[in-house]
Amino acid sequence: MAGLIPQQFIDDLIARTDIVDLIDSRVKLKKAGKSYVACCPFHGEKNPSFHVSQEKQFYHCFGCGVSGNVISFLMEYDRLDFVDTIEELAGMYNLEVPREQSNDNKKTAQQYSIEKQQKLDYYELMDQVSAFYRQQLKTNTNSEEVIQYLKKRGLSGNVAKTFGIGYSPDDWQVVKDKFTKNGGKFDPQRETQLLDTGVLIKNEKGRVYDRFRHRVMFPIRDRRGRVIGFGGRVLDDSTPKYLNSPETPIFSKGQELYGFFEAKQANRDLKRLLVVEGYMDVVALAQHGVSWSVASLGTSTTSEQIQLMFRNTSEIICCYDGDRAGREAAWRTLQNSLPQLQDGRQIKFMFLPDGEDPDSMIRKLGEEDFVALVDQAVPLSQFMFENLISQVEMDSEDGRSKLANLALPMVNSISDGVFKQMMKDKLAKYLGLDSQSLDRFITPEKPSTKKQQQKKSNRGSIVRQAIGLLVQHPNLANALKDMPPLDQINMRGTELLQQLADQVHEQPTINAAQLLERWRGQPEYDSLLKLASWQHDVDDEHLQSHFIDTILKIINKHLELRLEQLSHKDRVEGLTSKERQEYAQLITNER
Ligand code: UTP
Ligand code: MN
Repeated sequence: MAGLIPQQFIDDLIARTDIVDLIDSRVKLKKAGKSYVACCPFHGEKNPSFHVSQEKQFYHCFGCGVSGNVISFLMEYDRLDFVDTIEELAGMYNLEVPREQSNDNKKTAQQYSIEKQQKLDYYELMDQVSAFYRQQLKTNTNSEEVIQYLKKRGLSGNVAKTFGIGYSPDDWQVVKDKFTKNGGKFDPQRETQLLDTGVLIKNEKGRVYDRFRHRVMFPIRDRRGRVIGFGGRVLDDSTPKYLNSPETPIFSKGQELYGFFEAKQANRDLKRLLVVEGYMDVVALAQHGVSWSVASLGTSTTSEQIQLMFRNTSEIICCYDGDRAGREAAWRTLQNSLPQLQDGRQIKFMFLPDGEDPDSMIRKLGEEDFVALVDQAVPLSQFMFENLISQVEMDSEDGRSKLANLALPMVNSISDGVFKQMMKDKLAKYLGLDSQSLDRFITPEKPSTKKQQQKKSNRGSIVRQAIGLLVQHPNLANALKDMPPLDQINMRGTELLQQLADQVHEQPTINAAQLLERWRGQPEYDSLLKLASWQHDVDDEHLQSHFIDTILKIINKHLELRLEQLSHKDRVEGLTSKERQEYAQLITNER
């Protein structure tokens, strides 16, 4: 097992990286007062509520509440796990990630390391299985038949290679036999891993066998090109036509797009992305020069998939069959995409003639005419209103109010801004009203103004306030050096407060982002994150005195409680001599 990553190394990475530069390289930031702002990359919005603080090396979105340090940002934005994030950061400075030999590091770090190790094995295994399928396409006794099939479908060897297409032999256990053996001996752990990744399957009687048999295999890759699953097609008319990997620890359908990695490989800049339904569509389109298509791995496209695409392109065209199922899938995609829309982002829809799919279409039309069709795709707004209007009778009062009822919730789910305004104007026009008269039905986006946010976060106990100040400004811990240890105080949070102070005492130059990193994976992490982005309203020059005041308030509160406790005990059962002394002292201090 790989050793743990030393905390010191993680600290160094955080210290070397400027969060403003790093985020700016992915999401353009603008300076605004003390912090930098942008429209939040994690939810759709019109007005920037995503703040990045250079001082704290920390980001926070007042709209959706996400926050964290550089590591959290990379984990969320690039969808990396913890260890990959550290490797990514280290790679930016050409550093090797060191590993500790000892086991006495934090438990969480160890857990990460185990999880990561397991994932690595899954990826490695999938890679090997995929290579095996590719090799079978050339060497299996059936390979002539399979290659003929691919040729019949118009695919060249080149495209098959680009997409890593392979063949799973007509056998119940070749893959099992080949991959569960370790040095010639059966390895039960391997078998478990192959079951976990869906390559093997277990029936009710407990028999384990190959999931994919006698199928053309399409490897599904993640953004980084790692094989995470497979789709397998039969060579004839038998059913099911396609068999897909199940959801596994490394594959969740709603978050991946077939062909995305290949599209990014083929295009330095993705001007637009065409979303189609099938594996074969993506491959056939690429065969004919349209190398910018992806397939959603279900019938409609999820909001995660839309988000992923919009991080790489500004225009998405969703292509569906013209039949009812196609229109319904398009409608679900539309609903999933409304909250993601903002200026500069466009979604369009195109519908193919009945009985056609992108594969058959491009083979008929060729690249140029097919692209011309794509150019004529209808904008989301048009598709939405045409569809709604087809459901009501527009020449009756009743019908129009029904249209309002259908459309208003949809318009309301769009982020505030130009696009929402335009949709409102359109709706008003259809209803024969002026746009203002719809205003009272239009609700603003989430309550996310700073004032409201502050009101919310100002609540919280006095200990929480002290913790908040300390995480944001670790050097305040100096003020605690001469005070009695706070964890002796029996109040919620004092233990955490003292632990934080101790961590700063141990490493006096620690910054907010590094301090937080110490707590990743711990139960306290989420509340620390919230406190780290709490708006406290205290000027820099008054910070220290305010912090000391807060601590004194905590101590006083504690003494008050203790006094009450002792006085109660005195009346009910009497005090020990030690308690009597303490009681006397407290009373003297009171006066
Ligand atoms: P289609 O039936 O349109 O298949 O399903 P296709 O992509 O055009 O394939 P060819 O041209 O017949 O080879 C579209 C997508 O729906 C999923 C697959 O992802 C497929 O690519 N599907 C379809 C399944 O998962 N299982 C099935 O049995 C059928
Ligand atoms: Mn097809």
